[in-house]
Amino acid sequence: MPPLTYNSAPLLILPLAIDVPHFTSVERNTTFNYFGPVSSPLVSRAAHFLCSNTDTADEASLDTTLQSFLHASHADCVGNADEKSCCWFTIRLTKPHSGFDVPRWHQDGRMYTYDEGREAVARSKYALTLLGPPTLVLPAEDAVFATMAPGEEKQDQVYGDLRMWLAQRFQDVKRVEVGKGQVVRFGWGREDSPVHSEPRLETDRVFMTVLFGSERELRSMCEIRGVNFGKFDGM
Ligand SMILES: [Fe+2]
Repeated sequence: MPPLTYNSAPLLILPLAIDVPHFTSVERNTTFNYFGPVSSPLVSRAAHFLCSNTDTADEASLDTTLQSFLHASHADCVGNADEKSCCWFTIRLTKPHSGFDVPRWHQDGRMYTYDEGREAVARSKYALTLLGPPTLVLPAEDAVFATMAPGEEKQDQVYGDLRMWLAQRFQDVKRVEVGKGQVVRFGWGREDSPVHSEPRLETDRVFMTVLFGSERELRSMCEIRGVNFGKFDGM
């Protein structure tokens, strides 16, 4: 395999912040998931999902927010029209719980089978938090990756609790600051993919991500996950 071409930094905050309409709560824990063409009624379905499950009724503003997020992410993503014609788009709504009081530091692995000849292309996921705390992100620095590497070995240790061990190791590392409306680009499937975790969930949270690929790549992702291509789920 040829070496990766780093034409897309593994961690970046996109330059333009997105306007996010005001809302304060979610109805329940639920997820919107979609794998399919970008040019489907995705935005309107997602806006409707948010209106149905949060305390905002401003579907038009949500539509604009989602459209801006999708547009900025798609424009930033490496590739021609066919190479990023499809996406995995997800919105997670959560009520407070203690599941991430200890951070779950990890890197995202490979999401789908790469098209032939596109193995070296930098792949990214884009994230925007609409309500509540943003994802915790550590800087893409050698010292952080060096800590992750022995961590993998510790997984097999009888008394090794990897998650707790990493939480302690990263406790004092300065995190990347992500402001309101800011879209974060996360590289995935690479050695230098950013180390990140869900934040502590003390308030209601709405968080969305999108990643792009060709139709073939997204169909391979559907096969891996046992989900349907082009169908709306979670409504
Ligand atoms: Fe992740």
